[in-house]
Amino acid sequence: MPKVFITGGAGYVGSHCIVEFLNSGYDVVVVDNMVNAVMGEQGKPTSLERVEKLTGKTIVFLEVDLLNEAKLKEVFAANGPFDCVVHFAALKSVGESCKIPLRYYSNNISGSINLLNVMAECGCKSIVFSSSATVYGDPQKLPVTEEHPTGNCTNTYGKTKYMMEEMMHDVCVADPEWKAIMLRYFNPVGAHPSGDIGEDPRGIPNNLMPYVSQVAVGARAKLSVFGNDYNTPDGTGVRDYIHVMDLATGHVAAVKKISAPELKGWKPYNLGTGNGNSVLEVVQAFEAASGKKVPYEIAPRRAGDIAVTYADCSLAAKELGWKAEKSLADMCSDCWRWQSKNPQGFQKSSNL
Ligand code: WQD
Repeated sequence: MPKVFITGGAGYVGSHCIVEFLNSGYDVVVVDNMVNAVMGEQGKPTSLERVEKLTGKTIVFLEVDLLNEAKLKEVFAANGPFDCVVHFAALKSVGESCKIPLRYYSNNISGSINLLNVMAECGCKSIVFSSSATVYGDPQKLPVTEEHPTGNCTNTYGKTKYMMEEMMHDVCVADPEWKAIMLRYFNPVGAHPSGDIGEDPRGIPNNLMPYVSQVAVGARAKLSVFGNDYNTPDGTGVRDYIHVMDLATGHVAAVKKISAPELKGWKPYNLGTGNGNSVLEVVQAFEAASGKKVPYEIAPRRAGDIAVTYADCSLAAKELGWKAEKSLADMCSDCWRWQSKNPQGFQKSSNL
């Protein structure tokens, strides 16, 4: 049975990917420092306890911070050997990253250095990395391909993702035994169709879909639309929203690919749909999916926001045999099912 070591697996994208890894026959060992997760009654993160119920499979979970290299090595060596590592663990709030940059550089960069060192010491030299389209900055050409220049990021979070990519690139150049796949997510949204797991942001959601969802469920009064004077059809920002379950199948495809002999060295892949939707189109789709009104007001532009981005996903289709299947309507209806079943997120877990 192939075995993967997953960092940050208690989080939104990680937990959804673990559903697909388990359903695809992988054994998983998951570490998380719980900074952005809620512990459940069986001593595992609530998100992962629900994944175990959904899949009928068991997850090995250990609370580990990547900044504790000694503990990380102990856990990695004791539970290995692993076919590859899937690295989700990172702080990911764009706004927060600009307020406490050193916390982001330490957590995201030093944590990744520790992980790569431990992997090499334990003889595991294959990593699938949770990267982000934010490494492209404000795209000069659309749709964005993997050839687009990277590193022109306007926020610390994006810079850490870019630096982590560069670190893994240099490691692959220095030691050809290494293989590294960078999965550049566009805008992950939605939830598992069961409604039992989903995005559970702490405090005020930074991102559009969870905020819209909280307005629809009555937890927030109205949405602030950050600018309607962009050069787009309705003036609001356009993004490539991708269903988190499509992202999950993309990770399984990448883990399969990295074990193939033809995959060598460092390779980036865009994970998006190739479609762009505006803020107002998302609001409209969410109202249709939920049957609820989503009141909004036009507010000033948000610092650092770009006008438009959407992916060229042809490389992932060609080399990973992967394509996003779900529509914006699916994203909204699955997000709504999660939100309406769990108005408090994982805080008050219902008896499943
Ligand atoms: C989308 C659109 C906003 C909130 C960031 C990161 C990316 C990934 C996803 C981590 C924009 C508008 C938003 C609101 C609004 N993060 N908006 N009102 O900024 O494209 O991407 O989050 O993995 O790496 O860069 O996503 O959802 O914040 O914004 O009008 O309350 O919605 O202006 O046009 P973004 P977002």
